[in-house]
Amino acid sequence: PHIAVLMGGWSNERPVSLMSGNGVADALEGRGYRVTRIDMDRNVAAKISAAKPDIVFNALHGVPGEDGSVQGMLDLMGVKYTHSGMVTSMIAIDKELTKQRLVPLGVPMPKGKVVKSETLYSGDPLPRPYVLKPINEGSSVGVAIVTNESNYGDPISRDSKGPWQEFDELLAEPFIKGRELTTAVMGGRALAVTELVPKSGFYDFDAKYTDGMTQHICPAIIPQEIEEYMKLLAIKCHEGLGCKGVSRTDFRWDDELGKDGVFVLETNTQPGMTPLSLVPEQAKYVGIDYASLVEMIIEEAG
Ligand code: DAL
Ligand code: MG
Repeated sequence: PHIAVLMGGWSNERPVSLMSGNGVADALEGRGYRVTRIDMDRNVAAKISAAKPDIVFNALHGVPGEDGSVQGMLDLMGVKYTHSGMVTSMIAIDKELTKQRLVPLGVPMPKGKVVKSETLYSGDPLPRPYVLKPINEGSSVGVAIVTNESNYGDPISRDSKGPWQEFDELLAEPFIKGRELTTAVMGGRALAVTELVPKSGFYDFDAKYTDGMTQHICPAIIPQEIEEYMKLLAIKCHEGLGCKGVSRTDFRWDDELGKDGVFVLETNTQPGMTPLSLVPEQAKYVGIDYASLVEMIIEEAG
């Protein structure tokens, strides 16, 4: 089959998407597929129509591409594509809508508050330490941990400069001390739990995409009860949101609290597929190499 790999675009995660998309395209060419690489711009529909692919592999991250807009366009065009559909994508990109969907299903998530960034000047939205994050970004773009010794100065001071200033709407969540973990779901199965240990202490954009900046421990060295609980939660999130193909659910775990210290942060419907990414690593751990993972994602396209 002829696969169009859709990548790039104009989100803040454009560079990550180019790495994901080119990785996928190289792997497919290596397996003998006919591949068209499409860097998304405002003429993307025309580019896809001209290429006439059998399937679009969606390697986009961020908005647009991960938020349902591209999925809706492909639905209208009658083109099959990988990963989640329009409604699921729209809900999952929004960290607050995700909570509204998942918390009633029994998924533990931090109790946050949606704030307009300009209201920060009138006071902290939550007791410190707390996390401020844009409601619909990925790769930790725009995320700040606000402590009394915040790196960025004080969000409630008009003089301070911080990532929150770039965004109108932010989610404030209590900072969960402890550990950072993640689980991919594919074909109804949670692949593994990986622990991320960033050298800098904060798993931010640089820690995510600079080789050597974060240690990935796969499988994570955690009690079996916690591992099983995380896998169960990741499947619950995948199914509760109606995800298709692959998804990756991110956790914080306050290990002093045992099972009660497990919190889901979000589910990613377009998880990274770069050579440093977590999903390919977990797939490899369960015996699926990168190219086979890409083929499995394509087989689930609808
Ligand atoms: N947003 C990045 C690509 C991820 O979730 O892996
Ligand atoms: Mg994300």
